[in-house]
Parts: sequence; structure tokens; C-alpha cells
Amino acid sequence: MKIISTPLELKEQLKDEKRSIGFVPTMGALHEGHIALIKKAKEQNEFVVVSIFLNPTQFLKGEDLDKYPKKDEADKKICKLCGVDLLFFPQANDIYGSDEVSLLAPKVRGYVLEGESRPSHFNGVLTVVMKLLNIVSPKRAYFGKKDAQQLNLISLMVKQLFMNVEIVAVDTVREKDGLALSSRNVYLSASQRQEALKIPTSLRSATAMVMKGLLDSELIIANMREILYPLDISYVAIVNREFTQVDKVEIGNSIILVEASVGDTRLLDNIWL
Ligand code: PAJ
Repeated sequence: MKIISTPLELKEQLKDEKRSIGFVPTMGALHEGHIALIKKAKEQNEFVVVSIFLNPTQFLKGEDLDKYPKKDEADKKICKLCGVDLLFFPQANDIYGSDEVSLLAPKVRGYVLEGESRPSHFNGVLTVVMKLLNIVSPKRAYFGKKDAQQLNLISLMVKQLFMNVEIVAVDTVREKDGLALSSRNVYLSASQRQEALKIPTSLRSATAMVMKGLLDSELIIANMREILYPLDISYVAIVNREFTQVDKVEIGNSIILVEASVGDTRLLDNIWL
């Protein structure tokens, strides 16, 4: 596995690459969720590139940029074991200059839910993903359904800016007890981890209601809020695949989303129905 840290070197390395390139962008502290994306990329492409870049522009002031878990050596080993062909490991000054062209998230879809609790977060996500896609020029790029709004906005960017890449969505990987894997789970104490299980429990309960034919969003959300109590909830919402809130679940076209904090740790989860 080759490890490259500058965009120019990477472009040079890949310029004559004829094999199909699958790309998995990450911020490191890799876990089974990231590995599922890498495996999918390996299945569907002849050459797999992973990037590890803790992107400063998607963190707001006061967020966990400085304490975000870093596991560089373990991450390199994981990539090697997964058969990654090339690891892109840049520093912030390899990616950003001092006076930057800016890319803005759409005014509606970029500022609801996660975008409402973290205004400007998606500007940073879209900017870095655009840069990374331009550097790697993959045939396909892989993103987790766990970050449903991020996935939706990246798909929208690729469509609206007529970019030449196929976005592949990968199902959420969970611990045995249902907690969605996240690099941020390491912040949780044992008791907080137990509390955090209210999140997948609330989503399972919502699914059970839908299976019984109870499709009313208000009822489902009220039931979820009861289960989530006393967690600090940022939002519980039901949207369609265009990310517009809906009054009724439509099977095959709905996503139920939760963001709640356990202690200082913000956790995201969702279920696609
Ligand atoms: P990061 O949080 O490292 O996640 C990288 C990718 O892994 C994202 O596409 C995310 O949705 C996916 N992922 C995380 N947990 C997952 C899980 N439990 N199951 C399946 N997939 C999972 O998301 C980012 O980094 C950044 O915003 C990035 C897109 C790299 C831009 O900086």
C-alpha cells in the first residue's frame, strides 16, 4: 500500500491509472463502519483509494476538532489489511490555502436538522469532498447512510455540479447491541454507552410502529421522544429521500433521523424505511 500526502503527488500517481478507482473519504479513527465502505469499494473497483483527513472546516468553533480521536498507525494497518491500494494522508495546509474559493451548502437542505444544529458544517463537508474528489478522480465514491444528510447533500452536489462520479451509499454498521459505530463512541463512559442505546431502541420502536401500519409522523416522533428521555435531543425527524419533512411515513421513501447528546457527545442515527 502506497501512502501519499500531497495532492500533486497523488494526481501524478493516478494520472495514467486505467483501472477503475473506488474512493472512500474518512476522517480516520477507522472502525467497522469505515471498513464496510472499503470492502464495498474493493468489491466494485479494481483500485481502492482511502483518504484520512481531519477536515477543520467542517468543525464549528467549540466543537471537538482538537480532541477528535487520532489513530494514525492503527488506521494505516487497517487499510493495509483491507487491501487498500493507496492511502491519501494530507495535512491541512496541503488541502487549504489562505484565501479560498468557497462552496456553500444549499440554503434549505443544508440548514435543516444537522445543518440547523451545526450551521456552516455542510459548507465544510461539501468543500472538502469536492476537493478530494477532484484530487482522486474516482469512478465511484462511498459514503455511509449513517450520515444521511451528508450523503444526500453530496449526491445533490455531484448532480447539480455535473460531476463525473458515482456516489454509492452503504448501510449503517452497528454493534451487536444496536449502537451505530462512530469514531465518537470512544468518548462515552460505560454508563453513557448504556444511555446511548436509547437511540437505536427508539428507532427500532419507530420501525415496529410503521410495521403495524402506524404511519403518522407526529405519533412516531412523540413515542421516540419518550424512549429517548432524558437524553438531550437536538432533533427527531421524519423526512423523505429529498430531505423534506413529511407528515406520514411512506415506506420505500422515508428516513427517520435522531440526533441526541449523551454527556458532551453528539450521536447521530437513522433508519431508512
Ligand atoms: P467519517 O466520520 O470518518 O466517516 C467516513 C465515512 O464513513 C462517511 O461516509 C460515514 O457516513 C461512514 N460511516 C461512519 N460510521 C458508519 C457506520 N457505522 N456504518 C457505515 N458507514 C459509516 O463523514 C466523514 O468522515 C466526513 O464528513 C467526510 C465525508 C470524510 C468529509 O470530511
